Amino acid sequence: MISVTFEELIQNTIAFVKDELENAEGGHDWFHVERVYKNALLISEGENVNKTVVALGALLHDIADSKFHSGDETVGPKKARQFLKFQNVSEEIIAHVVKIIENISFKGGNRTQSFSSKELDVVQDADRLDALGAIGIARTFNFGGFKNRKLYDPEIKPNLKMTPSEYKASSAPTINHFYEKLLLLKDRMNTETGKKIAAQRHDFMEAFLQQFYAEWNGTR
Ligand code: ADP
Ligand code: NI
Repeated sequence: MISVTFEELIQNTIAFVKDELENAEGGHDWFHVERVYKNALLISEGENVNKTVVALGALLHDIADSKFHSGDETVGPKKARQFLKFQNVSEEIIAHVVKIIENISFKGGNRTQSFSSKELDVVQDADRLDALGAIGIARTFNFGGFKNRKLYDPEIKPNLKMTPSEYKASSAPTINHFYEKLLLLKDRMNTETGKKIAAQRHDFMEAFLQQFYAEWNGTR
């Protein structure tokens, strides 16, 4: 069996993901994956993890996001498995990467995670960090625009008890997403490095919201 080197495997994976995400919405495109990959490598420095699993998990975590594939959550894992098999990656690593892709999502917070590993912790933190701070704010409004949602509506209160499917189908104003998800993330971080970066990005979002309401209400 011909096997590729680690570097070749990473380069092939990057090319595959770029191609898969060619027409993705701006907040879930290749550059999102690139940021998550970098965050994951950074967080890995402080953790005892299999770097191949972390790298592949980060690079493949959002191919065929179910939000954009009529809710089918099996498309991404299947595509990743097929690709990794073609690259002659061992079954042990493929199985772990697929588990990461299947379990990474937040999904409204009321879904229990069925699998856990240090590598999943790292990739999940890396993905969550990209939902926070300045980039998190930009992605959220971009997604809201993509769905043609209002920026804000004082009459429509955040719903903290949504089921995963209601959450996905919601047409609530974009500001609500901060309360339904983004501001909850800092307390759900897995790693020490992740917690530290999340706390700082969380404060930035709180400051943004204060300024947003001040401007909304016509104050100087
Ligand atoms: P996860 O990968 O944890 O499932 P998502 O892919 O649902 O997270 O969300 C990633 C980013 O997409 C969010 O951080 C946010 O910026 C944007 N997003 C997702 N759902 C919504 C929503 N209902 N309203 C506004 N932005 C959203
Ligand atoms: Ni992601």
